[in-house]
Amino acid sequence: MASRYEDLTKEELIRLLEARERRTRFGLVWEANEIERDKALNGDFVALDLDPTLSCGNAPWRNLIIEGDNFDALRALKMTFAGQVKCIYIDPPYNTGNRDFIYNDRFVDKEDSWRHSKWCEFMFQRLMLARELLTQDGAIVVSIDDNEVFSLGLLMNRVFGEGAFVANCIWQKRYSRENREAIGDAHDYLLFYSPHPDLFKVRRGMIPMTEKQEKIYKNPNNDPRGRWRTVSLTAQGYRPNQMYEIVGPGGKRHLPPEGSCWKVIESEYKRLLEAGLLYFGKDGNAVPSRLRYFDEVEGVVPWTWWPHEEVGHTDEARKEIQEIFGTQTAFTTPKPVRLMERVLQICCGPNDLILDFFGGSGTTAHAALKLNAADGGRRRFILVSSTEATVDEPEKNLCRDVCAERLRRIIKGYKNRDDESISGLGGDFAYLRTRRIPASQLLEIDHSQVWTVLQLAHGETLIPYEDASFLWNGNEEEAVCYVPRFRREDAPALREAVKRSAAVAMYSWQPQFVRQQIRDSRVSHLAIPETLARRFGLQQGGRA
Ligand SMILES: C[S@@+](CC[C@H](N)C(=O)[O-])C[C@H]1O[C@@H](n2cnc3c(N)ncnc32)[C@H](O)[C@@H]1O
Repeated sequence: MASRYEDLTKEELIRLLEARERRTRFGLVWEANEIERDKALNGDFVALDLDPTLSCGNAPWRNLIIEGDNFDALRALKMTFAGQVKCIYIDPPYNTGNRDFIYNDRFVDKEDSWRHSKWCEFMFQRLMLARELLTQDGAIVVSIDDNEVFSLGLLMNRVFGEGAFVANCIWQKRYSRENREAIGDAHDYLLFYSPHPDLFKVRRGMIPMTEKQEKIYKNPNNDPRGRWRTVSLTAQGYRPNQMYEIVGPGGKRHLPPEGSCWKVIESEYKRLLEAGLLYFGKDGNAVPSRLRYFDEVEGVVPWTWWPHEEVGHTDEARKEIQEIFGTQTAFTTPKPVRLMERVLQICCGPNDLILDFFGGSGTTAHAALKLNAADGGRRRFILVSSTEATVDEPEKNLCRDVCAERLRRIIKGYKNRDDESISGLGGDFAYLRTRRIPASQLLEIDHSQVWTVLQLAHGETLIPYEDASFLWNGNEEEAVCYVPRFRREDAPALREAVKRSAAVAMYSWQPQFVRQQIRDSRVSHLAIPETLARRFGLQQGGRA
């Protein structure tokens, strides 16, 4: 029988082959073109409006809470924080079908035949933006349950690459039995990915020892170096330079057991012996082992099993909300603070930047503030939260009334439901709202919006805009300066100001004119709004 390809011309065959080349052969496929378009997807420029009345603490602020759709927020953050975030944690809607996922202002329910494709497209668009924000050794951690775990794994492979997979951790979210299903559901997953897992591995944090692990360290011989334990000196396998004979202090001779070798080469063994770091039992004749002192242990290497005794459970998380707001109904799907502390202990150091763009009730920031208070760290957070307003509840504002309010209470202190005073952990945040500006109207952007973007883009803390001839934020090494309306008589004050810093990025609407007046090798002159458009990725003609 003749094949249908025999009738095709060479050009038609080439086109066919090219179309096949483009098709996904292995991985996740969803109906992106068939579903109703996500109206959050747009090509507008995104500005951030600072609301000092909802911000917490005094300016300059270090942390940010952004109210708005995270598609917009992520594009604004790409303009200012690309390649700077060490740890992204997200806890997106799980798409349970039980009114937990809003798409185009409506809850997606079990009857929606496109519900998996809507979720995949929604997540894909946001993960693609999130990818741009991570440092090379950063990590993104995503909470999920059985509803979408399989789609999410493939989606993450598609966005970050299969080689970016680090681990799939199991969080035991329940402590009591669940008898409704054939097999009770007791856990969620946390998928860890990193642009470079080898770089991440070098810097990832250890986790604190549990009480049980700590109890293994004892000091029966009153060793002045303190509590200790022994760890085996043998490893499986055969390495010729790790097969030497060891003679113990009691005279007994030891060779590695069959199928094993010593963990260290002979010169290292001698160093350990001299340093008194080997143990041969009470009589000096036992198989040698290595002494490990409690004080020298930084913690334990994390593993994929996260039991509720160590990181809390959903009940604990609800009680934490109740403790702060006096009612559990303030937010119904929080994560426990201890779970978030664990994520942060693994993924970020004491000076790193953390982003959660499904911020919900703000648990990630709560954990960051708690860790800072405990170890004196300076972790910074950016949280994005939606208002959760829908057609049925247009006035709802989860970001303002729950997320920001929770963090305000945590920072300043509050009275719990038993009327006890809980001290504040300290910290601050600036409260911002996303505002879309059609690309063709970028010339009408507010000075306050320009000033906010410029400070964030230069890694500065945030100071509110005030009506002045120029605005300044920085230190002796570098500074950002914004000149909203340049007048010749402002030149002397500006010339004086630039002496404060070794490098000044000076933004204005007439850079040529300002340059004529401020000729100084320390100053780079940059144009508004062109620089903003370029950083945002707006093409000429106004489209993103
Ligand atoms: C499961 S909750 C996160 C809970 C959070 N981990 C906590 O402990 O409070 C998911 C949150 O994502 C928010 N969300 C959903 N779609 C969003 C969007 N497009 N932009 C911003 N936030 C969104 C929801 O409002 C919800 O509060």
